[in-house]
Amino acid sequence: MTFLELARSRYSVRNYLPKTVEEEKLNYILECGRVAPSAANYQPWMINVVRDPEVKKKLEETYNRDWLKQAPVILVFIGDHRKGWKRGDGKDHTDIDIAIIADHVTLAAAEQGLGTCWICNFNAVKCAELMNLPDHLEPIAYLSLGYPADSMDATSRHLKRRSLEEIIKFDHV
Ligand SMILES: Cc1cc2nc3c(=O)[nH]c(=O)nc-3n(C[C@H](O)[C@H](O)[C@H](O)COP(=O)(O)O)c2cc1C
Repeated sequence: MTFLELARSRYSVRNYLPKTVEEEKLNYILECGRVAPSAANYQPWMINVVRDPEVKKKLEETYNRDWLKQAPVILVFIGDHRKGWKRGDGKDHTDIDIAIIADHVTLAAAEQGLGTCWICNFNAVKCAELMNLPDHLEPIAYLSLGYPADSMDATSRHLKRRSLEEIIKFDHV
């Protein structure tokens, strides 16, 4: 599979089979995340792999969706704002680094026949409380993870992308 084929094959899965994600596949996709680049190589990240039904149930209260309950795994990407690289003007790059590691994971999962969905619309305050996180550790994104129960819906948002003509400029000043 070419990279373009892989990138096109990934879509937001909101329908999961009640099937366990194999340990080897989980480790593989986490390793694909681990090698992601980060600003100044500071790697300001942690991933909480939530599978235990009791823990998962509590986490689901921070984003109450039936499809999230179906997913066997929720990955919680936690940014460490103390570790994240700050540019001279103060810009904190932790969010960018988290997006990169999470994107590696989504694509690795797709390569393994697994589905993911990015989730940022969760109650972050409640999540931080639940995980007892100090102020500098921020839960930035969740990824649901599991075997898709559907195939990509051709009419979905997934196929709606702006054209290259619209988003690319060459030598623009
Ligand atoms: C940063 C980010 C946050 C997102 N948050 C959510 C979310 O909270 N809930 C949700 O259902 N989808 C969420 N999504 C999924 C987007 O809606 C989806 O990626 C987009 O519509 C394109 O569809 P596709 O992923 O199938 O290509 C998020 C995606 C990104 C990249």
